[in-house]
Amino acid sequence: MREALARAHANIALVKYWGKRDEERILPMNGSISMTVDPFYVTTAVTFEDGLPEDRLVLNGLDAAAVDQRRVTTFLDRIRALARVDARAVIRSENHVPTGAGLASSSAAYAALAMAATRALGLNLSPTDLSKLARQGSGSASRSVYGGFVEWLKGNREDGEDSYAVPLAPPDYWDIRMVMAIVDSGPKSVSSRDGMRSVVETSPFYAGWQATVESDLAAVRNAILRRDFAVLGQVAEANAFKMHATTMGAVPPFTYWSGTTIEVIRRVQQMRGEGVPAYVTIDAGPHVVVLCEPQHASWVEASLAVVPGVKEVVQAGPGPDAREVDAW
Ligand code: PMV
Repeated sequence: MREALARAHANIALVKYWGKRDEERILPMNGSISMTVDPFYVTTAVTFEDGLPEDRLVLNGLDAAAVDQRRVTTFLDRIRALARVDARAVIRSENHVPTGAGLASSSAAYAALAMAATRALGLNLSPTDLSKLARQGSGSASRSVYGGFVEWLKGNREDGEDSYAVPLAPPDYWDIRMVMAIVDSGPKSVSSRDGMRSVVETSPFYAGWQATVESDLAAVRNAILRRDFAVLGQVAEANAFKMHATTMGAVPPFTYWSGTTIEVIRRVQQMRGEGVPAYVTIDAGPHVVVLCEPQHASWVEASLAVVPGVKEVVQAGPGPDAREVDAW
């Protein structure tokens, strides 16, 4: 039996990956920078067994939906091709996300799956190769191979060999916090995959996104290296707003925000008026991630918890690398 157990932590982008130049290989239009977060992780066991008729994906103890099973089989096919094996696998995955929202869980899920499946088959990939592989499951998973602060280089090659993540700084380099305000989710939102495709194809504002993303990358990279929290927060917040502005120019237009998203943004702007440096970032959904320094985190948490429509608030710090583990 060929088996391995691996764990990877989710990450939240400070400069967003937004738009693909190749849908099949998952190659991005632009580079991105993220922080891997401590309390959100996925642990995955992969067991390859001869004679299994098909792969079986079990998520938190329940057989996964057919669409997720297919996506995982397509992903494992790449690994089977690399290792030259045919065996199907049982994949058991536990999502340790301290909220019902599953925030950023695909980043952790595909990084953990890439590591467990390759190790189970005796492929000892370098972190760079693991990042390229994880990228092909979910773009943001390329960054969850590393802990701390991470940049995904967009690359230029058609084969994707130069599109992978690199570590910028380890988790203990800089203790900043992401306080996540989980809001009541309204109707099912547009997936990141569909949302990006739509803005690339139809939004006149996508050109504006592209025009400034390189300078945002340089500013955030430098802010991390210099531990300059104000610059990091300002640029990350502006970058998130630009990403969300592209959705409003799409045909048809859409937004990931709910009313509560806007209320949380307002509360954070008020905090700054009250002298607390806090900034927002938002992924492809209504939840709001608030960046702050450790000395303000409890206060930020308490202030967000009382905004009407906020269901839950969770504080995260920088998290570790993806790794093999001995136990769940
Ligand atoms: O990796 P995906 O397909 O879930 O896309 C992630 C897209 C954003 O979360 C909006 C931005 C990012 O860089 O994580």
